[in-house]
Amino acid sequence: MIGVRDDLAELEGYHSAQVTVDVRLNTNESPYPPPAAWRDAFLAELAATPFHRYPDREARALREAIGRLHGVGPEQVLAGNGSNEVIQALCLAYGGPGRTAAVFEPTYALHSHIPRITGTGVAVGQRRDDFTLDPAEVERVVAEAQPAITFLCSPNNPTGVIDGPEVIEAALAVAPGLVVVDEAYGQFTSSSALSMVADDRALVVTRTFSKTWSMAGCRLGYLVAPAAVVAGAERAVLPYHLDAATQIAGRLALQYTAEMEARVAALVAERSRLAAALAALPVDTWPSGANFLLFRARNVDGPAVWKGLVERSVLVRDCSSWPRLDGCLRVTVGTPDEDDAFLAALTEVLS
Ligand SMILES: Cc1ncc(COP(=O)(O)O)c(C=O)c1O
Repeated sequence: MIGVRDDLAELEGYHSAQVTVDVRLNTNESPYPPPAAWRDAFLAELAATPFHRYPDREARALREAIGRLHGVGPEQVLAGNGSNEVIQALCLAYGGPGRTAAVFEPTYALHSHIPRITGTGVAVGQRRDDFTLDPAEVERVVAEAQPAITFLCSPNNPTGVIDGPEVIEAALAVAPGLVVVDEAYGQFTSSSALSMVADDRALVVTRTFSKTWSMAGCRLGYLVAPAAVVAGAERAVLPYHLDAATQIAGRLALQYTAEMEARVAALVAERSRLAAALAALPVDTWPSGANFLLFRARNVDGPAVWKGLVERSVLVRDCSSWPRLDGCLRVTVGTPDEDDAFLAALTEVLS
């Protein structure tokens, strides 16, 4: 039987363990469900949906609603099945064989994985020891690789560090192709590149409903970019890729922005409490602008900490085999009870 493409055979997937535990803090989901009123409205619209018909191929109402949220027109928005699909569309349309994407490690693994599965080369730059990004490093990598796509991630997964406007400006000044700022965790911080999107700039900002909107189960993400860039990315998506239920779910979610902001504020406050509690344990941590914290135990190796936590029914992300993250684990900010369970388990594992 035919095997898969040689370049795919070498690739490992990016999967977080799905094990049954009481406390799941490994995939940066929201610990809170969407509002009950959203659920009621969603189910009512679903009941009236003509499922024998294809959905709106352009997802017009959803794109208009997202555009209103950000003060742009629907032609500047492309929605997909999670921001990963949106990134895939960008790589298919603007990357591909003979083209390169630049990433700065440590960062979100899919920023190299998706280029590779689309046949796009990957040029790797490095963040500083504190995981901030030196504009000079961006300039160096971009000058050398001439990437079709330069990925930034702010707040960066898995470090939580923000790539400030100076880094984005530096990338835009030298990049010959698109600069994509992945803001999957954008609402957990005040810094955003959205206001920098303009027709004369090859800047793309991606966002997701999976985290702040509490809708990881729906698979909805989007990008905001100049209309010409959106039109280009649209060439690479399949017809009717976004189903009717997802379009309805996202459009209705945007009617509950205040509730989303309240959940985000609660998680940001809880992040401070969790960070302070971690600081009292024998672990190193990094300041985070997202809904997770990266930490490294000083006296136990990463996989052993991960296993010890699983044995206590707490699941976090083991990042210890990722580039430059020896010994590191990432914990998602959960409810206060979940975080207390995590802290109690971690204290036991480290003692
Ligand atoms: C930085 C970053 N970008 C994108 C995604 C993908 O999100 P989605 O669920 O929208 O595909 C994630 C999910 O963990 C992420 O951490």
